[in-house]
Amino acid sequence: MATGADDRVICVIGAGYVGVVTAAGLAESGRRVHLVEVDARRRATVAAGRSPIHEPGLDELLAEVVADGRLTTAETMREGVAGAGIVIVAVGTPPTPGGEADLSQVRGAVDEAVRHAGPGTVIAIKSTVPPGTTRSLARSAGRADISFVMFPEFLREGAALHDMHHPSRVVVGGDDPQAVSRIAALFGAIDTSVVLCDSVSAELIKYGSNAFLATKISFINEMAQLCELTGADITKVADGMGLDPRIGRSFLSAGLGWGGSCFPKDVRALETSAGYHGQSFWLLKAAIEVNSQQRSRFVGKLRHGLGGSLEGRRVTVLGLAFKPFTDDLRQAPSLEVIRHLEDLGAEVTATDPVALSGAEAVLPRTRLVADPYEALAGADAAGLVTDWPEYRELDWARALASMRGRLVVDGRNWLDGEAIARQGGIYVCMGRAPVAEAPPATVVPSLPLG
Ligand code: UDX
Ligand code: UDX
Repeated sequence: MATGADDRVICVIGAGYVGVVTAAGLAESGRRVHLVEVDARRRATVAAGRSPIHEPGLDELLAEVVADGRLTTAETMREGVAGAGIVIVAVGTPPTPGGEADLSQVRGAVDEAVRHAGPGTVIAIKSTVPPGTTRSLARSAGRADISFVMFPEFLREGAALHDMHHPSRVVVGGDDPQAVSRIAALFGAIDTSVVLCDSVSAELIKYGSNAFLATKISFINEMAQLCELTGADITKVADGMGLDPRIGRSFLSAGLGWGGSCFPKDVRALETSAGYHGQSFWLLKAAIEVNSQQRSRFVGKLRHGLGGSLEGRRVTVLGLAFKPFTDDLRQAPSLEVIRHLEDLGAEVTATDPVALSGAEAVLPRTRLVADPYEALAGADAAGLVTDWPEYRELDWARALASMRGRLVVDGRNWLDGEAIARQGGIYVCMGRAPVAEAPPATVVPSLPLG
């Protein structure tokens, strides 16, 4: 395909976690980036050189690339696409109630981009979309002078800049080899593996990667249950398993399970998509079921630890974000846990280093406190939900002295149980025996569900 398109100019649509990080990274690599964002507040934040999300290092990078004009924001697609050889689509694909990916934002953004794109433009889909979507977008665009490729993102929230600079691989899938290599060239300077394939394979590499990691976590959480029933130590088990390079220790940390903007929606979307093609993806059904059980198991440990009832008990939840180093509350385990505790009659206080501001709207019954010590004062029990370093460094002698009770349930096996026990606490975690200096009167070691 002959092209006058200028790949030094790139349009990114959507200033969410993926869009704003991708835009900043491409600008950093010397391209001129137009970032199109419909949300005026987000757009204004980026235009001021600030990050609309909590992501380590992103504020500094944005300040630099906005100040020297490498990254500009645009409200309209006409402005954004003007002169761009490449258009990267990073709009949301939230789940529908049925579990499939809602593609309305993707279709809307692509329709508009196609209206303004010049001949030879490559439209690269970075949003996570079900198998076959990229081809169907190309068909409905009906422009032979524009190419579509699937260009999945693998960045982790909280480590996004690191993952952008050190991608484990770059995957580009499409039916037009020239368009595929133009997108792969965007990361030409980075030393990493490049997978060039058809768009459906690229779509499934993305879903498969997230679904496999989620299944790995659900596997270790099932092993954790068995450890409780047999008296083994899940951390030792995971260490021993993980030394096998075919298994690997990463994503073998047992606890409350997976949350966030990607795993929950992508695992369900993949399972649903398989259903459309007549396949029952049993492994994913099980991974989803195990994951939701983990929240109930955690609440069960608090209830049993407090004598079997949570009615009128004060429980302090440490951590709201779905994982540390982000302010993202989307599908955060904390939300399910807190609602469950409150439904069982507990008075819940919650704290988080960065995610409190977004919590008010979604946790109307919960007392939200910024200082962890203030949050723990007077509590009958503490429940750790997000593995922030701050909570591991807490002065537990001070915390326990201020609490009404001495039960600490660790949903991420993150805290130093022995140290807590030495301070008179009763430490209970996921997949290991409870730890207490003074024999716990009420805590029952392995707590079968229900
Ligand atoms: C997105 C996809 O949702 C996900 O499937 C993929 O894995 C990664 O990229 P994320 O960056 O977290 O995830 O999305 P989100 O935080 O929802 O941001 C999307 C942004 O696009 C929002 O700021 C939204 O306002 C913006 N948007 C949406 C547009 O600018 N134009 C549109 O037409 C639609
Ligand atoms: C994930 C993928 O890692 C990333 O490649 C993709 O682009 C987007 O989705 P992210 O959602 O940021 O990234 O979070 P991740 O670090 O993968 O953690 C996902 C969830 O699994 C979190 O809730 C985390 O607490 C949980 N988790 C992770 C475990 O419970 N145990 C583990 O061992 C690892």
